[in-house]
Amino acid sequence: MVCLTIAATAAAPAEIERKIDALLARMTLEEKLGQMSQAGFGRLTDQRRAEIRKGRWGSLYGGGTPAEKAEAQQIALKESRLGIPLIYGQDVIHGLQTTFPIPLGQAASWDPELVRQSARIAAREASAAGIHWTFSPMVDIARDPRWGRVAEGYGEDPYVAAAMAAAMVRGYQGETLDAADSIAACAKHYVGYGAAEGGRDYNTTWIPENLLREVYLKPFRAAKDAGIATYMSAFNNINGVPASGNEFTLRQVLRDEWKFDGFVVSDYTAVHELIAHGYAADAKDAAFKAIRAGVNMEMVSTDYWDNGKALVDAKQLDVKTIDEAVREILRIKFRLGLFDGRTQPVPSGAQAPSAEALAAANKLAAESLVLLKNDGALPMAKSVGKVAIVGFLADSPRDQSGTWANGSAGTVTPLAAFRQALGESRVLYARGLRNGSDTSRDGFAAAVEAARAADVVLLFLGEEASLSGEASSRAFLNLPGLQEDLAAEVAKAGKPCVAVILAGRPTTFHDVADKMKAVLYAWHPGAMGGPAIASAILGDAVPSGKLTITFPRTVGQVPIYYNHLNTGRPPAAQEKFTSKYLDVSFTPEYPFGYGLSYSKFEYSATKASAPQVKVGGKLTFSADVANVGAVEADEVVQFYTRQLAGSVARPVRELKGFQRLHLKPGEKRAVTFTLSTDDLASYNPQMKLATDPGAFEAWIAPDSASGEKIEFAVVR
Ligand code: NOJ
Repeated sequence: MVCLTIAATAAAPAEIERKIDALLARMTLEEKLGQMSQAGFGRLTDQRRAEIRKGRWGSLYGGGTPAEKAEAQQIALKESRLGIPLIYGQDVIHGLQTTFPIPLGQAASWDPELVRQSARIAAREASAAGIHWTFSPMVDIARDPRWGRVAEGYGEDPYVAAAMAAAMVRGYQGETLDAADSIAACAKHYVGYGAAEGGRDYNTTWIPENLLREVYLKPFRAAKDAGIATYMSAFNNINGVPASGNEFTLRQVLRDEWKFDGFVVSDYTAVHELIAHGYAADAKDAAFKAIRAGVNMEMVSTDYWDNGKALVDAKQLDVKTIDEAVREILRIKFRLGLFDGRTQPVPSGAQAPSAEALAAANKLAAESLVLLKNDGALPMAKSVGKVAIVGFLADSPRDQSGTWANGSAGTVTPLAAFRQALGESRVLYARGLRNGSDTSRDGFAAAVEAARAADVVLLFLGEEASLSGEASSRAFLNLPGLQEDLAAEVAKAGKPCVAVILAGRPTTFHDVADKMKAVLYAWHPGAMGGPAIASAILGDAVPSGKLTITFPRTVGQVPIYYNHLNTGRPPAAQEKFTSKYLDVSFTPEYPFGYGLSYSKFEYSATKASAPQVKVGGKLTFSADVANVGAVEADEVVQFYTRQLAGSVARPVRELKGFQRLHLKPGEKRAVTFTLSTDDLASYNPQMKLATDPGAFEAWIAPDSASGEKIEFAVVR
């Protein structure tokens, strides 16, 4: 039998470490195992009170009402033997009282500063409700839109996801973790969860180490560099070993290589699920393997508590390993100020979103809107006579809030926003369908009638909130139910039609788009989705969002992502024996980085500060971007590179930078990106990170599928 001893990982302020030493010296094994346990969701019963008094729990999931949280914390601090505080964790994913767009929508803003502000507001609201810790951000890279959890992440690109991960951590954790309005963040799901085979949630993942390091781990590393307090170990099996028992990812990468000194919580019952994975023989083995791997805290299942003592008694686990796991938990509790009188607020009554928070939600929703098609129908003239609004998603607060919303307080639906903007009498509303699974066409006639009576039709189509998020994978990506038929019927009325699509993932809607004069993709835009959409459609704001995930033409193209390898036979339209399909194009419907504006931007050729750079040096790339259209607008400028040959083949393009510009009509700005050769490094077959000398290309471009490239060389 192995007796496992793991050395302390990282240095932290000496005073905290001394206090932890003193506590550990006094703690019983039971109290240590208690710290390593998070109780499942539940109210504060007498049994729970008694357990807290005994030190049975280190953390409560949710923890009940703010008043219950305050009472439980008092019990922990005053009535438990050592007065160790509880840490309350909860899913605050895109807002607490104020619902911001789903993360995939937030990413489409390409505006990390605005994303940081949304997390700051969420942290203020959460801390005021007595929550210490949010299970966010989710930074799983996803290349498969069938996976319902694409809604919760930032898309397919590691650079974008890393920028958003860092922004979220800074937003939640603020300047210091112990500030009254800071909460601890938790980067999840560590790691590889987004690569679920077939896009089926919880499914197995196979990710070669170079891909793991270059793509899937990148945003997690950015979270570490931004000072994240915790990680959540994922549900999935990765390369044969479940993520919640994986010593390579949790010990070697996270602790040894990255020197992370906070703690890891398992996902919900993920420790016990090591048995179903076929990795642990029983609950005792599951506890052993998860602790050995470095999962400090077990969420909801109780294998640590039930078996920890037996594992130590049998000398299978050294108490030092337990101590180290507890130390990392206590360290975060100290950093949060939980030992030092952090107040446990009890707000009076239900809290409503503030005007300031709603304004921020409106701004982020507006920036997240992606204009996919526009034959001149948008912006819609305000002088237009009557507008028909068709579709249940025009007036469904719950659905526009998206997955993991904590309510829909203060929500303004698109229908309400258009009525407000145009006056009730000019807005004709017909749901057409009750919801996405409605099989009755009874509502079509009223929708067609509204379309006939109107001058313009706005069709609100897409997915309900319940179709994305956890355990919400889909095998098809089409607009669910009879929505395509509804759109076709309404289009026959012959009025100009604009589709606004609300969804938690890329969907496929090629035939619908053909019938539309314009298509605006709104994701699940949150509380202020209505006003943001109305402003964009009426031209009070200009859409500026761009996709951070590729939109396929059909589900059969999945996985499809922009930063793929070239193959030996890259697809060529006229050549049969190339890498493509016989029945559909190899190109996406809308590429990564794509999004239109009401204005027009022109890019000059990309220039480099020198034709070559020595390994270790830097180059500057620049291009002039001009607003040659008629309106003031934002443009998201993207910077990509490609390595043409080296010790491994590299993707056809990789994002290395982006900037959001605001330009007046006629205004031109020089945009520059500085590239260090370290930014070009990749893992060679020996898993060494190195920059290969050789030929490279670079683009400053509006999206991943366009732009003029320039060549440059990296030399020794
Ligand atoms: C399971 C989900 O995978 C995770 O994202 C979430 O934070 C936990 N449940 C807690 O609710």
